[in-house]
Amino acid sequence: MASRGRSLPTYRSSILAFLTVAAAGLALAQAPATDTVADIEERTRPFGQLCLKGQDCGGEIAPAAAVDNAAARSGEEVYAAHCHICHATGLNDAPKFADAEAWAPRLAQGAEELLRITKEGLNTMPPMGTCMSCTDAELSSAINYMTSPPES
Ligand code: HEC
Repeated sequence: MASRGRSLPTYRSSILAFLTVAAAGLALAQAPATDTVADIEERTRPFGQLCLKGQDCGGEIAPAAAVDNAAARSGEEVYAAHCHICHATGLNDAPKFADAEAWAPRLAQGAEELLRITKEGLNTMPPMGTCMSCTDAELSSAINYMTSPPES
């Protein structure tokens, strides 16, 4: 009659294998006796490190200036993210997107004046059209896009 389950020798070798792995694990976990504080700090240091602007960060981190040099957002992008909410529907009588009639008297003020007003705000039009991070060039692109969008 066939024996039930596994034979004793099989169990014994499984237990042996387990003990071997456990012992190896313990050996690895134990720190070598020659550890210095620096070794321990190196092993336990957090994965991410904070490097503040102006600090020497080992040159591995992209300089903050890269952000400033990032490509300017297009007028369409700025409009979609910041101006569209009011200028698409004419909320509070905002001149509507591509509405030539509504824009004509405003455009007559000149691009410089429009930019100045956009930055300062006008009645319920908020300063910077809410795009606080926008550069003058980006705001001007947004105004151009809104007043004379590319023909589609
Ligand atoms: C919270 C609503 C709102 C947002 C957001 C907004 N606008 Fe306006 N905008 C207005 C309103 C309202 C007016 C009309 C103000 C008036 O004539 O009293 C206006 C007017 C303007 C004018 C005409 C100013 C003039 O001299 O007549 C320009 C240019 C303009 N907005 C640009 C922008 C740009 C660019 C953005 C996005 C970066 C933007 N706006 C975002 C509400 C908004």
